Amino acid sequence: MSVISHSSDLMRARRFPEGFLWGTGTSSYQIEGAVTADGRGRSIWDVYAHTRGNVFRGDNGDIACDSYNRLQDDLRIIKDLGVGAYRFSVAWSRVQPTGSGAVNQAGLDYYRRLAEQLRENGVQPVVTVYHWDLPQALEDQGGWANRDTAQRMAELALILGAELGDQVSMWITINEPLQTVHQGYRTGTHAPGLCDDALAAAANHHILLGHGLVLQALRQTTGAGTVIGPTMDPDPYVALDAESEAVAETLDAEFNLVYLDPVLRQRYPESARPEMLPPEALIRDGDMELIGAPIDFLGVNYYRPHHIRRGDWSDLRIGEEPVPGFPGFVHYQAPEQERTVMDWPVVPASLRDLLGRLHAYTDGLPLYITENGCAADDYVSPGGTIDDYERIAYIHGHLDAAADAIADGVNLAGYFHWSLMDNFEWSHGYRRRFGLHYVEFETGRRVPKRSAGFYGNVARTGTLPSWEETFPLDGPMPSASTTPAAV
Ligand code: FCB
Repeated sequence: MSVISHSSDLMRARRFPEGFLWGTGTSSYQIEGAVTADGRGRSIWDVYAHTRGNVFRGDNGDIACDSYNRLQDDLRIIKDLGVGAYRFSVAWSRVQPTGSGAVNQAGLDYYRRLAEQLRENGVQPVVTVYHWDLPQALEDQGGWANRDTAQRMAELALILGAELGDQVSMWITINEPLQTVHQGYRTGTHAPGLCDDALAAAANHHILLGHGLVLQALRQTTGAGTVIGPTMDPDPYVALDAESEAVAETLDAEFNLVYLDPVLRQRYPESARPEMLPPEALIRDGDMELIGAPIDFLGVNYYRPHHIRRGDWSDLRIGEEPVPGFPGFVHYQAPEQERTVMDWPVVPASLRDLLGRLHAYTDGLPLYITENGCAADDYVSPGGTIDDYERIAYIHGHLDAAADAIADGVNLAGYFHWSLMDNFEWSHGYRRRFGLHYVEFETGRRVPKRSAGFYGNVARTGTLPSWEETFPLDGPMPSASTTPAAV
C-alpha cells in the first residue's frame, strides 16, 4: 500500500461536531493472554487456535499482548493517546468459566478495575458483551446452533450490568454476528471451525436472539442515560455491470440484511435465498419482537467494499475470484486498486455511501464507526520509530469520508480506530498488525507508531488536518515530534 490522498480538497481541514466521540478498541481474546489465570475457563478460540492448521504459523492467544497482566501499561498508552473512549470486550469464560452458573469474581474484578481506571483517566469505557470467544463448555452443548446459548448470554449480561452498570454507560451487545455465523459455522475459518449450512442458519437466529436478550438484560440492570446497541459489519456490495446487480443485491441480503433487518425491521429479508435463512421452525412467538426491540445506536465496522461483475470461472482474469454459489460471477479488484496487506481494497468513498444508506435505513439513529483500520507491514526503524505513513493516509481518507457523511446530514456520533495495538488477528495470527501501537510480542513492549501521534492529535482537537498539512511536500513528515512514549 502506498500513501495516496483520497481527499477531494488537499487544503481543507475538517472540524468534527462538538461531542463527537473519539475512541479506539480491542477485544478480549486478541489481547488478554493469561488464559489459565484466576480461574478463567477455556473458550472456543483456545481450542480452535490450538488445533493444527487453523491459524497461520500455529499462533494462539495464550500470551497475546498479555493485557491481563499489563493493565497499567495499557491504561497509560490509552491515556497518552488522547482518546475519549476505549472499547473492550469481556472474555465470558473469565466471568463464568463454563458459560453458566456461579460467577468467578477474580475475572469480573479485572473488568471492573479496567472500567474504573479508564474513568479515573478521563476515558469512557465502552463494553462489548460478546466478541467471539464463547466458553467451550457451551460449544460442547451445540454453541450458537443451540437456542439455550442465547439465554446463557443474557445471564452473563445480567451479571455484567449489575457489576459494571455504574461505570459503563455505553454497551455493545454483540460484535459482527455475520462472522460468528459465516466463518464460525459455514466456512470454518473461525472458531468453532464448523462447515454446516444448517448449523449456520440456526446460529444466525440464535445469536440475534442473544442480542435481543442481552439488550433486555442490560436495560433491566443499568440506569437512565445508558446507551446500548449491536455492532454489525455491513460491507457494501457494488455491482460493476448491470447483469451483476441482482447478485450484489442477493449478497447484500445474505451477508448484511439477514442481520440488520431482524434488528431494525423485526423480519428476515425476502431477497435472501431460503437456504440462507433460519428455518421457520426455529423462530418462536415473540422472538422477532425481542430481536427488534429499540436500540440506542448502531455500531458499524467498516473496512472494505466488495465489487461484483460477470466473469468466467473457467478462465479467471487477474483480480477475479469466484463468488461462491453464483457461477458466472466474480469478486473483482483491479490490479491497480490500492489495497492493504490483508488484500482489502482501500475505498473511503464507500464508507460515505454506507453511512448515508444506514442513516436512511435506520431513520437517523445515531451511528458509531466502532471499527475501521488497516493492517500494514510495520517494523521498528533503526532509530526506534515505526513510520506507518500508510496507516496515517488510511485514517486520513476514512475520516475525510466520515466528515463528508456528516456534511451530508448523517447522524454519525463517533469513530473508534481499530486497534489500540497490534494483536492476535484471528486466523492470521500475529502476522497482521492493525495497531496504533506496535507490540514487540517477544517482550510485550508497546511502542507508539507515528499514527498514534497523528490520530491522538485528531482526537484531542476534534479536527482532521488537511492532506497538505499531514503530508507537506517540503518539511517534516507528520507527528514527528508528537509521538508518545513507549511502555
Ligand atoms: C473485525 C473484528 C476485529 C478485528 C478486525 C480486523 O472483523 O471485529 O476483531 O479482527 O476485523
